[in-house]
Amino acid sequence: MTRLKLDKITQYIAAQRPGYSLAQAFYKDVDVYQAEIEHIFLKHWLYAGHASQIPLAGDYFTFDFDTESVIIARTASGDVKAHMNVCRHRGSKICLEPSGSQKSLTCPYHAWNYNLDGQLISARNMPDDFDRSQNGLHKVNVALLHGLIFVCLSKEPPSLSALQNELDEVFELFGFNNMKLAEKKSYRIPANWKLAVENYQECYHCAPSHPEFAQIHAMAKPPKVFQMAKSDFAQANQGQPKFKQLNRYFDLAEVGQEGYQYDRNPLLRNALSGSAGGKPVAPLLGSIQEYDGGASELMIGPLSYFLIYDDHMLGYRFLPNSVDECICDVSWYVNESAVQGKDYQLEQLTWLWDVTTQADKKIIMNNQKGVDSRYYQPGRLSEMEHFQQSFLTWYLKTLAE
Ligand code: FES
Ligand SMILES: [Fe+2]
Repeated sequence: MTRLKLDKITQYIAAQRPGYSLAQAFYKDVDVYQAEIEHIFLKHWLYAGHASQIPLAGDYFTFDFDTESVIIARTASGDVKAHMNVCRHRGSKICLEPSGSQKSLTCPYHAWNYNLDGQLISARNMPDDFDRSQNGLHKVNVALLHGLIFVCLSKEPPSLSALQNELDEVFELFGFNNMKLAEKKSYRIPANWKLAVENYQECYHCAPSHPEFAQIHAMAKPPKVFQMAKSDFAQANQGQPKFKQLNRYFDLAEVGQEGYQYDRNPLLRNALSGSAGGKPVAPLLGSIQEYDGGASELMIGPLSYFLIYDDHMLGYRFLPNSVDECICDVSWYVNESAVQGKDYQLEQLTWLWDVTTQADKKIIMNNQKGVDSRYYQPGRLSEMEHFQQSFLTWYLKTLAE
């Protein structure tokens, strides 16, 4: 990035007032967007999927954002490996389908053939001095956290060790390793990715925009009411591993470590799960013995979110396509032994977060429309937007670096 562009971004950052939403340029300037891709998306661990999506050797899926595409595959030896979906010949995309099963990967252009470990196996009619061993696919860092697959495109990815130490018990308890993907929906949102992330991080909008969610989640209540419900709930369940409270997100993460956050919050009106009327929707997860009327919020890295009910788990992520469009992917996970149609119905399982995400898509689009106006100016944030505020502080600091 040129000096001129960097100076411009530095000025935007300096003009930003704490406690206010971001200035228009952060949502529209392509140079800001490029800086975000470099300093946020290419530097952090991103939630790509779950091992249950690729149970057999040869199974793969792709993980795409901005101009990048990563192939995540189960190799012949049973490992999960990730490589850039870019041919080493003249650069064609190799896997064109979002998922599938292949013994090896053949480029659709001139048929160079790679194994699932990324090694180039064959390339026709190449000069004698061509070295196949130097032309394997670009490797991508991949980490498995109890079945959850994360990738990081950086040469020096942040460490996941602190997160693994502190969250191991939680992953075990909810049986993350023994979950399966029941459903995945993608919502294309014509808005800057930060408007989607900021919206996910505050529940100021929950009461007016999400009647279905607000009926069963205490989080949608005003801060005082919520805090009271939360402390009663925590007291009633003291000492249980589900009730850990970990805040190592954003500025609270140790240097060199990926940030994370975990917290369990109460549901309302005897709700047991995230569903219509709070009714159970699937068999209990992991070694959970009974419903406690709560839901856990888990964040891994700055961009990957998980919501854990006792009988299902949701993975949430926002990926940019361009400065003015992002994709919100929602994945629903259940106990791997659960049988669709018998132990759970997709319709019931996905209902709450499908209606909620569709409503979010609308409000985020409207937000972008207003932000695009000449009359938009950064507005004061409420008390219920404190988490969004910490994200913005971290974001501005990260960009400034
Ligand atoms: S671009 Fe892949 S084989 Fe030519
Ligand atoms: Fe929302």
